[in-house]
Amino acid sequence: MSSGARFQAQPQSVKLYDFHPPMEDFRSAVLQGLAQPQKALSAKFLYDKRGSELFDAICQLPEYYLTRTEMAILRAHTEDIARALNHRVLVELGSGSSQKIRILLQAAPQVHTYVGVDISRQHLQESCLALMQDFDGLETIALCADYTQPLPLDQVPELHQRPTLGFFPGSSIGNLEPADAVAFLKTVAGLGELIVGVDLKKSASLLEPAYDDAQGISAAFALNLLTRINRELGANFDLSQFTYQAHYNEAAGRIEMAIVSLADQGVAIGDAEISFTQGETLRTEYSYKYTVEEFQLLAMEAGFQPIEVWVDPDQHFSLHHLKHF
Ligand SMILES: C[S@@+](CC[C@H](N)C(=O)[O-])C[C@H]1O[C@@H](n2cnc3c(N)ncnc32)[C@H](O)[C@@H]1O
Repeated sequence: MSSGARFQAQPQSVKLYDFHPPMEDFRSAVLQGLAQPQKALSAKFLYDKRGSELFDAICQLPEYYLTRTEMAILRAHTEDIARALNHRVLVELGSGSSQKIRILLQAAPQVHTYVGVDISRQHLQESCLALMQDFDGLETIALCADYTQPLPLDQVPELHQRPTLGFFPGSSIGNLEPADAVAFLKTVAGLGELIVGVDLKKSASLLEPAYDDAQGISAAFALNLLTRINRELGANFDLSQFTYQAHYNEAAGRIEMAIVSLADQGVAIGDAEISFTQGETLRTEYSYKYTVEEFQLLAMEAGFQPIEVWVDPDQHFSLHHLKHF
């Protein structure tokens, strides 16, 4: 992307506040998650460097309507959104490759500070650097942290400036169980205002291919978790003995993504031995879907007031502007 006046020729380094969780947390979460009757790991572990690259590839897939629809909403309502933006500091939660924020930054030249928050440290730094190079004069901060834990926002002096706006795109909030989504929103209430992207309820025939594409990128993204566990925790998962599935549980309103064992097998993770039966699943991710009203109620539970909501013409995706009073 090049934005003319904001182009900056000289790359500089991005200021990093590094609160990346220690490896020991990963080890204990994996051992605990695999010891449960329904094996399950948090979606946050999918994002090592390779996981972030695979997620970027997912965003380009024809089946993955979420990214292009959210971008289209942002573009279609840029003027509206810009009117709502009088903020000087933008904080992007789960910032990934920081693409969508570019639309907001172009619409809001008064913003002088951007804080990208993500757990995937190297990808975060690279994305923030690219943003800084493209938006001349934008103070760009990388905050590597786990937003399922209380975020260390008070330890980032740049965030003491007001007013701030939190941007949480990609329907990442759908990865959290509804009660955890409320708890999360409460932890970021101090930001004052949020724009949150939320995927809407729709038919399984549209949802399931978005999470299990024909090229197998979604499968590779999920199975990369096993590669990560092998590399970082000294495990011996044989990836040829596992496959991937995504199913829309309509009653629960969520896509359920899982790695499936193709055989009865044992896996060593360091000194621990984990057994899988044939067909047993390891849940890697939920993606909750909401109606506009359901999400507004959830936000209100966290003390936010819905200000405005933008939806695409096909009613696939919603963008909520929320204020905390
Ligand atoms: C679904 S992707 C969305 C990326 C981007 N915001 C977009 O809209 O395309 C989720 C992003 O959140 C990050 N993430 C996931 N869980 C996280 C956590 N617990 N704390 C911080 N970042 C997290 C991932 O690394 C990834 O960049």
